[in-house]
Amino acid sequence: GLVNTREMFKKAINGGYAIPAFNFNNMEQLQAIIKAAADLKSPVILQVSKGARNYANPTLLRYMSQGAVEYAKELGVKHPEIVIHLDHGDSFETCKSCIDAGFSSVMIDGSSLPYDENVALTKKVVEYAHQFDVTVEGELGVLAGVEDDVVAAESHYTKPEEVIDFVTKTGVDSLAISIGTSHGAYKFTPEQCTRDPKTGRLVPPPLAFDVLDAIMEKLPGFPIVLHGSSSVPQEYVDMINKYGGKLPDAVGIPEEQLRKASKSAVCKINIDSDSRLAFTAAVRKVFAEHPAEFDPRKYCGPARDLMTELYKHKIKEVLGSDNKL
Ligand code: G3H
Ligand code: 13P
Ligand code: ZN
Repeated sequence: GLVNTREMFKKAINGGYAIPAFNFNNMEQLQAIIKAAADLKSPVILQVSKGARNYANPTLLRYMSQGAVEYAKELGVKHPEIVIHLDHGDSFETCKSCIDAGFSSVMIDGSSLPYDENVALTKKVVEYAHQFDVTVEGELGVLAGVEDDVVAAESHYTKPEEVIDFVTKTGVDSLAISIGTSHGAYKFTPEQCTRDPKTGRLVPPPLAFDVLDAIMEKLPGFPIVLHGSSSVPQEYVDMINKYGGKLPDAVGIPEEQLRKASKSAVCKINIDSDSRLAFTAAVRKVFAEHPAEFDPRKYCGPARDLMTELYKHKIKEVLGSDNKL
């Protein structure tokens, strides 16, 4: 069946790799995630946001996730390690509803609340979740928004001096931190980047590894989570733009930095946007090249294939979670 994150994170920290946390809203994404994880013998976290629940229907999502375990077995994995996790839970009620519906892990995101309120809300969720052996991810520090300038973004970094108090008071199983990542396909403005003189492409500023180090020093061996970790692969952006899309200057986190983070106590890396880009790039290509096509399988199929390739690349070449089952 589905598992929580406890053992998974312990092994990942000791083994110097990170567990992929991939968001999904639909069947093709789920198929691609499970196929990639099963073929490479990787544990995986299936992530569902509140928006995804509303889009896909909570009951359908629950049975799809349970079905994912059976599908992984059909693909030859004897003991799949699959977590179904609520991404960015915004209230006790949302978390409770997911726990009651069989989720094995939840995130309560109180990062935008005043510190004491974040502590109180997170603690309440932990107390409920742990009765059912459901693990809880909390968050300290605010991820930058596209509109934030560098100074604003840095002021939102997780404060290392708060993490011990937060983890002790709340009892969370893992902690999401802010060290310069952000959500979406526009993680940095062109002004925050330099340009590669050869390619003319934007080179983003590095993540704040000094802040990560300071956090890890305060919490030795404690599971750390990175949100907003899409790399925004240039090939997908180019493909989208080539086939009629318009994504100017989209930029993500260089994979080299995620590779480095994976080797540390960062044991969960969240990726959503890259999958959306792959899906959209593949669909646009089919539409542009075969305008008479109207069977969804003819464009969702190639989208699924490209996402499978993307997930495999992340698992094997970036997070290092292959051959861990
Ligand atoms: O953190 C946000 C995730 O990428 C989910 O996005 O709320 O649009 O489903 P969403
Ligand atoms: P990206 O937008 O970088 O894929 O981040 C996803 C995420 O953090 C989901 O919680
Ligand atoms: Zn996130």
